[in-house]
Amino acid sequence: MISIKSEREINLMREAGKFNVLVMQGIKKHIKPGVTTKELDNVAYKLIKEYGCEPSCLGYEGFPASVCISVNDEVVHGIPNHRRLKGGDIVSVDLVLSYQGYHADATRTYIVGQVTPEVKNLVTDTEKAFLAGVKVVKAGIRVREIGQAIEKYAHEHGLSVVEELVGHGIGREMHEDPNVANYDDGNNIRLKAGMTIAIEPMLNLGSKEVYLDDNDWTVKTMDGRPSAHYENTVLVTEDGYEILTGD
Ligand code: MF3
Ligand code: CO
Repeated sequence: MISIKSEREINLMREAGKFNVLVMQGIKKHIKPGVTTKELDNVAYKLIKEYGCEPSCLGYEGFPASVCISVNDEVVHGIPNHRRLKGGDIVSVDLVLSYQGYHADATRTYIVGQVTPEVKNLVTDTEKAFLAGVKVVKAGIRVREIGQAIEKYAHEHGLSVVEELVGHGIGREMHEDPNVANYDDGNNIRLKAGMTIAIEPMLNLGSKEVYLDDNDWTVKTMDGRPSAHYENTVLVTEDGYEILTGD
């Protein structure tokens, strides 16, 4: 069942989205060579609480941190730890928080110091793949059209699409229906105004194949090449969309 949010709920989702942006900006300030991903997680927890929000990931199915921080070949669900960031890394920060019971989910991939041109393109093209996907959003389109647009953009730019993980509806729950794949999954369900979805392409420089790390959380690329992730929470409207976590 796909929930349709009332005007009151949409306003709470907007609030949650704004807090997500503020927390993300606060985390971004600390991203530099030498910082540990655990230190970034501590910053996130503190800011989330200061804004009167709750960290949705902390304790979710036993996840041990407030944010997922995934470096280089880590695709998603990186667990913050004592690893220090260094120049040449890319780091994705996947932040889900709730405000008065409503969740907002966003991911940004940041570049640490200098990276090669192809890694830089991976990061910027992953954001652009999100934009290609969100641009088709309006009431009446089929869910699969989002994935079609993302996949087309990715392939035209020489990137592969991770298929094991997908975007999702979001609202009172962090994960609601429908799945929002980053490829054509054949889902012919049509979007309606008032639905809220997280669109989140995960694109790889090498092959699309991934595996689950021994920690049972972190998904990594099989070939060890870098992966980037970009995500926003999006409201579907009659004639388009509103990005609730836009910065
Ligand atoms: N944005 C991630 C997702 O949609 C958040 C996962 S939280 C975790 O799957 F607790 F599962 F890590
Ligand atoms: Co998500």
